[in-house]
Formats: sequence, C-alpha cells, structure tokens
Amino acid sequence: MSAVDLKGRDLIVTQEWTLDELQAVLDLAVRMKKDRYGFTRVLKDRTFFMFFYNPSVRTRQSFECAATELGGHAQFLEPKSMRLKTAKTAGETIEDAARVMSRYACGLGIRILEDKVGAYGEGDALVREYAKWAAIPVVSMAHDKYHPCQGLADVMGWIEWLGPEGGFDPGGLKGKKLLMTWGHGALARSWSSVQEAILIGSRFGMDVTLAHPEGYDLDPDVIRWTRENCEANGAAFEITNDVRAGYEGAHVVYSRHWMSPDAYKDGEFLKQAEIERALKLTDWICDSGKMALTDNAIFTHPMPIDRGHEVTDEVASGERSCIYDVAENRLHVQKAVMALTMGAEG
Ligand code: CP
Repeated sequence: MSAVDLKGRDLIVTQEWTLDELQAVLDLAVRMKKDRYGFTRVLKDRTFFMFFYNPSVRTRQSFECAATELGGHAQFLEPKSMRLKTAKTAGETIEDAARVMSRYACGLGIRILEDKVGAYGEGDALVREYAKWAAIPVVSMAHDKYHPCQGLADVMGWIEWLGPEGGFDPGGLKGKKLLMTWGHGALARSWSSVQEAILIGSRFGMDVTLAHPEGYDLDPDVIRWTRENCEANGAAFEITNDVRAGYEGAHVVYSRHWMSPDAYKDGEFLKQAEIERALKLTDWICDSGKMALTDNAIFTHPMPIDRGHEVTDEVASGERSCIYDVAENRLHVQKAVMALTMGAEG
C-alpha cells in the first residue's frame, strides 16, 4: 500500500513520526477521500477499541465510520465499564488490560484530558503505559498533551484550501503563516489540539506565530520542538502577547481557547476558576476586523467551537472557514492511519 512501513506503530504525537510517514498518511487519506468505499477489506472482521474517558462528537463518530468503511467494527469503551485500578480504587492494572485487549482487537484508541487528569502529563503517561504493554497499535484520540489525528486532519484541510486547485501538494504549506491565537472561552480546554497543530504545521514548513495573553504559556517542550522544526525549515517562529499583531500576513488563523498552566493544583482541575479568569479577556476573539489584517487567511478550528468567545459567528461560518472540511478529514486521515498501522495488506 505504501513504501513507508507503519505496521504496528503507535500514534501518540505526530512529532514522533517522520515527515515521510506523515505524508504517507496524507497521501492515502487523499486516495481514500476520492474513493470513499473502495477500501472495505482493509480491516475486514477486525475490531478497533475506542476507550473514552471524556465525551466526543467528531472523534467517536469518525472512528466508528472509519472502522465500518474499512470493513471492520469500532467498539466503544469507557472506564466505568472496565473496573480498572486507579489512584483511588482497587482494580485491574493497565498491563493486564492492555495485554488482554491485544488478544481481541487490531488497535486501541484512547482519549483522556481536561477533568479526567489531576495534573498535566498524566494523560500522556496513561496513553504511553497502554502503548508499552499493548501488542497492538495505540492511537491517541486526544489526550492532555496531543491530538495527532486532529493535527493530520488540520494540515490536510489547509493544504486543500491553500494548495493548487484540484491538486494536493504538501509542499504548498511551505512559507505560509499559521497564527495560533488564544481565544477567551467558557470550556477550559486542554492543550492537545493546539500543541499538535503548531508542531505539525511547523513540520510542513509553515511560519508559526503563537499569540496568547500573559499566563497562558504552552508546554516548553512543544515550544522547543516547534522552534526546532521552524529552524530546520528556515521558517519563522514568534510568540506574542499582542492580540492583533499576529494577524498581519497570516494565511491560516486558528483561534482556540486553552487553559492556563495554573489549571491543575494539588491533583484537582480548577475548571470554574479557569473559566472565570478566561471570560474576562474579551478582546481575545477572532472577528472580521482582525481577519481583515491577514493575507486572506482561512479560519480553522478543531471543533467544538465556543462561538461568541473564541470566534464570531461571521468568521466561523464565513466563506473562508475550513472547519467542516477539517472535521470531515478526521475520517479520512483516521482511515489512513488505521490502514497503515493495523490493516491487512492490499
Ligand atoms: N475535535 C475533536 O476531537 O472533536 P470531539 O471532541 O468532538 O471528538
């Protein structure tokens, strides 16, 4: 199916895959988008486990459809149905659960973020613990650090919108400017989609500007990686606390709320305090006035959108919004990831 061999690989953050591997996913996703029901034997008779600690619209539905369209089945699991050991309760270890699940399924997706962790990084540690013991590929379906399937769908959508009409050229993002800007909001979201987007955007040669109010810094490792990615591509990377400055010359504007590093304290997620703090910063909204400063930028967002806070309806539903294309692309990139990591030959 591809010169790149991804059989058996975990996908926890795109930064851990080579550019060739990411391009192989996108190439196959483009083929699968064009020939949607032409790959129905890839997961024939196989089951993909989806283990959700948090709710979802896009991720659950797109993975279920992906498994069906590849000829297999996706099974929904949640912690309350599994009797697992936790810091507060006795139960089954991750080692035992992962080793048993590997005897049944072809792959395991996990989502854990926001109120389901007590400190930043716990979700990442849990996903990696499953990956350590599972004999099947483990795919992050969004955890507290990263959302690799979202990142792949993002760049696929941006390439479709900004590249040559009717063609798909991943090189088309080189030299394009991504503005990742904080938006005020009432949802207290994890950093996963945002961190993934600046990582994968910078891998594909984009200039990246990160704009946020003081006190909303991202993970220093992600900042370092993004800077290194940009340097390797001869691209620019800037961080600003100015709400408007980053819009100038932008080709892609991504306005998204994320929680502050103070959101977790003593093992608790201080959701209400985060929301109250964020809602005071009303200037931080993507609106048509700010979009007018850009180079005819597209608006992107992983969804769900907090309309009226992160972005106005006019921009989110405007002619330059790619949100539904990106959401659709979740299906295609996930089919490609499943085919390449878990699929039968052919
Ligand atoms: N973007 C995304 O992961 O959406 P859901 O939370 O609805 O799955």
